[in-house]
Amino acid sequence: MSRMCISFLMCLLIAGSVHAQEDANMKDTFFVIHSRKSVRNFTDAPVSKIDLDKIVRAGMAAPSAVNMQPWSFVVVTDRKKLDELAAGLPYAKMLFKAGAAIIVCTEPEKAYDQNKDLAVIDASLAGENILLAIEALGLGGVWTAAYPYEDRMKHARTVLRIPQKVIPLNVIPLGVPTGVDKPKDKYKKEKIHWEKW
Ligand SMILES: Cc1cc2nc3c(=O)[nH]c(=O)nc-3n(C[C@H](O)[C@H](O)[C@H](O)COP(=O)(O)O)c2cc1C
Repeated sequence: MSRMCISFLMCLLIAGSVHAQEDANMKDTFFVIHSRKSVRNFTDAPVSKIDLDKIVRAGMAAPSAVNMQPWSFVVVTDRKKLDELAAGLPYAKMLFKAGAAIIVCTEPEKAYDQNKDLAVIDASLAGENILLAIEALGLGGVWTAAYPYEDRMKHARTVLRIPQKVIPLNVIPLGVPTGVDKPKDKYKKEKIHWEKW
């Protein structure tokens, strides 16, 4: 076989493997999206700082209006603080068993046009990135509401010393899942309107 033929075959092989890698990445993304679920049952295993850092970085990769990134994140691993949070949040009792929590915060002053709606939308996108990153790492988490409930935001602000001008959007307890929580199939054909409503 000539040298040229060998080079050509090599190029084909490399191109093929690049495409295979792209396909694998695409499947990974869809797999994570469809396997994400609210996880409310955790083992006693801790969550590593390395994983928490990866998760928060994924949050910061979210899009935001005019790239204003009005978000910030409080990461909690201290057992006492997790329990204090749980005590005042009626629908976040899973915090008692969670290894950590991430509180996605947002600041209207830092959003485009200082618009509160945009601040909440931007930080919600960061929140979804965080939920997907948690799933991708084999961990589990659940968005529990702080915003728009005054009492829940007040409790989060008090426990975590969050300034009044900062909105604690949610509290995301996370940990190693026991495996009982499963993804739901939410596909509904009638929700899609092709070309017109
Ligand atoms: C804005 C918002 C608020 C939520 N608040 C709570 C909450 O306070 N407690 C809770 O257990 N789950 C809460 N959830 C989780 C939802 O119950 C959950 O996403 C929904 O039932 C769909 O299930 P899935 O996440 O497993 O797909 C909240 C989710 C969103 C988006």
